[in-house]
Amino acid sequence: MKVAIGSDHAGIELKKEILSLLTEMDIECLDFGTDSPQSVDYPDFGEKVSKEVSTGKVDRGILICGTGIGMSIVANKVPNIRASLCNDLFTAKMSRLHNDANILVIGGRIVGKDLAKEIVRVWFSTQFEGGRHANRLNKIKLIEERFIKHGL
Ligand code: RB5
Repeated sequence: MKVAIGSDHAGIELKKEILSLLTEMDIECLDFGTDSPQSVDYPDFGEKVSKEVSTGKVDRGILICGTGIGMSIVANKVPNIRASLCNDLFTAKMSRLHNDANILVIGGRIVGKDLAKEIVRVWFSTQFEGGRHANRLNKIKLIEERFIKHGL
């Protein structure tokens, strides 16, 4: 399993914690920044990580900003991305079971480090259920393809 991770300035502390957890979990991780507390624009980092996932260069992604909202909006603009904002354990589990989420987004100003680490553990250990949920994901894929082909 190979993972791309990125954050804005509001997510750097949590990103460090998650990076060390992923190392403990034997998950290879590519860090796309940011690395300093200097204010940056989350779309720049969200796009980089989402592209890695979208093109299959990595298996999954993790994005962190202050609330997780901005990164979710950005990531879900990129084809093939199913980004889920998970600031609690139930959502983390369901986003894998029902949505086959391929990018985990966490709000660095909302979730403490211990809960965030548990969210990461649950998210990586839960498998997609498939079945009727796969049909729904196919419908989402068709919407994406329609907009790419025909525009609005
Ligand atoms: C940055 O101040 C903040 O707006 C950003 O981290 C994020 O919360 C946006 O959704």
